[in-house]
Amino acid sequence: MKQEPQHLRYSSKKISSFAKPVLYFLCLLLAYSLGYLSSSTRNNNKSPDHINTVVAHVNTVINRATTELGGDHSDFGAVCGEAVPQQHIRRKILERVFKGTSPWENFPPSHVESLLRKKWIKGWGSNGAVFENLIRKVRPKTIIEVGTFLGASALHMFELTRRLGLYDTQIVCIDDFRGWPGFSDHLRMKDMKMVNGDVLLMYQFMQNVMQANATESVVYTPFSSGSALEKLCEWGVFGELIEVDAAHDFHSAWSDINRAFKLLKPGLEGGVIFGHDYFTAADNRGVRRAVNLFARAHNLTVQVDGQHWVFYISNRL
Ligand SMILES: C[S@@+](CC[C@H](N)C(=O)[O-])C[C@H]1O[C@@H](n2cnc3c(N)ncnc32)[C@H](O)[C@@H]1O
Repeated sequence: MKQEPQHLRYSSKKISSFAKPVLYFLCLLLAYSLGYLSSSTRNNNKSPDHINTVVAHVNTVINRATTELGGDHSDFGAVCGEAVPQQHIRRKILERVFKGTSPWENFPPSHVESLLRKKWIKGWGSNGAVFENLIRKVRPKTIIEVGTFLGASALHMFELTRRLGLYDTQIVCIDDFRGWPGFSDHLRMKDMKMVNGDVLLMYQFMQNVMQANATESVVYTPFSSGSALEKLCEWGVFGELIEVDAAHDFHSAWSDINRAFKLLKPGLEGGVIFGHDYFTAADNRGVRRAVNLFARAHNLTVQVDGQHWVFYISNRL
């Protein structure tokens, strides 16, 4: 896929930020060990066996430190399942998540019907030019969105696919539909109703999708991003275009980006993973740090389109 120049580029460095603390630690350990060994040798008190034991111990500590820092922080589970053909992705998710039926059957349920608005959409940067730029370029058959809220960006992408003649494109949304603590205090959310402590985000999202005539093109998994992404990987659900826009703290963003990356469809054509809040008030909560770290770890270039970060993956094998 051809990469277009953007107004800002960030180059990756060869050494990841995981590697830096490890290197400092290893240097310290080496210096300490050399000092210990040289003083032992000078005093002639220690046998070669003892020196060998110390060296073996140092090696063990180094190996453990390297494995732990490089391993667990970057290990996001097993290899994904065999790819489900694109035309079966929707059915696969309906089978696994909704016992084979559409969640829109008999929607809305009577206990929430009177509490929903005909259409209630609120998003953040959800209509940015980046969506059209990427859909034109990638012409995705499957889009995966991590963090959907009321469906503003998902429905914007749905409209774009229709406008560009991509009538078969499926949009797979992932959201636990809990928002975040206190989100309903937001001025434009304060009228959102609650039923027994449950905010009605999922139902209002479903209502918005129905209102947009998109129930055949949008499907969702109402679970935490970590577990949903892991399951999609296990089921072999891949996409060509993946948006990450769920929780914005460093650890959540790091985990979501790593897991989402595994869902880029394998093959020579590659794909795009992108996300919001690289250049907004929220970026200092960790999204930008997670994106930059991921770029260094995978030797990728961060491209910026408006408030969004973008990784073009040209050769995902
Ligand atoms: C900023 S909103 C998404 C906005 C949407 N992309 C748009 O532009 O319209 C973030 C969403 O992520 C969801 N979210 C946050 N943390 C999550 C998690 N760990 N698992 C699943 N969803 C999560 C919230 O429920 C919320 O709906």
